[in-house]
Amino acid sequence: MAGTPHEIIEKNTGLLVIFIVIAISFATLVEIVPLIFDQKGPTEGGVNTPLPTMKPWKALELEGRDIYIREGCHVCHTQMIRPLRAEVERYGPYSRAAESSWDHPFLWGSKRTGPDLARVGGRYSDDWQTQHLINPRSLVPESVMPGFPWLATNEVDGTKVQEKMRLFRDRFGVPYTEEQIEAAPDEVLGATELDAVVAYLQQLGTAMEGQR
Ligand code: HEC
Repeated sequence: MAGTPHEIIEKNTGLLVIFIVIAISFATLVEIVPLIFDQKGPTEGGVNTPLPTMKPWKALELEGRDIYIREGCHVCHTQMIRPLRAEVERYGPYSRAAESSWDHPFLWGSKRTGPDLARVGGRYSDDWQTQHLINPRSLVPESVMPGFPWLATNEVDGTKVQEKMRLFRDRFGVPYTEEQIEAAPDEVLGATELDAVVAYLQQLGTAMEGQR
């Protein structure tokens, strides 16, 4: 029995599946395709190029980022504030694509066991971050975050820091100067992995200040 086009699609599973796939692909394309072709600078409304206020990670921050990845922090923490009112009120201005343009691999994450960290930089003191990472429950009694006490005794391995900076410069366009790369091993010398992770956390999201 013929009905309205809507009825026909709704009563025919095969057709319904085809239209659902088309609808989802279209929504995905609308989100992704403009980002691929957008080559405008951020001041011209482009979203794909680094913000002028972004600074390359310092050597210690870069090492901290790798330790963050090694310890799986991104499995419980996202770094992407969605443009929804509840998120913006809780975490701050929503994340812009431009902010992640140097982030390879990006650490947006897909699951929040803990809060989003995209703008956690400067929210707490270095001492708070240090103590929280060693023993989260000493500061937040109901926390389910594991402690990472070994970070306090492990020294940063600075043997690859120059190679990493060159990779980020040559492959991803991070504007490191030769002087910065030269100075890097000394900057991380003697620092603990905990110092590095805290340095990394403290700069998260700060490039957006003055851009909002
Ligand atoms: C098993 C999940 C889990 C893992 C893994 C994890 N966290 Fe957490 N994290 C949480 C939870 C839950 C909270 C909220 C309670 C608290 O503050 O301790 C939290 C809170 C935080 C906060 C405070 C955020 C805020 O806005 O108050 C920071 C910073 C943080 N985590 C950093 C890290 C870092 C760095 C790592 C990796 C070394 C890490 N977390 C690994 C679950 C996790």
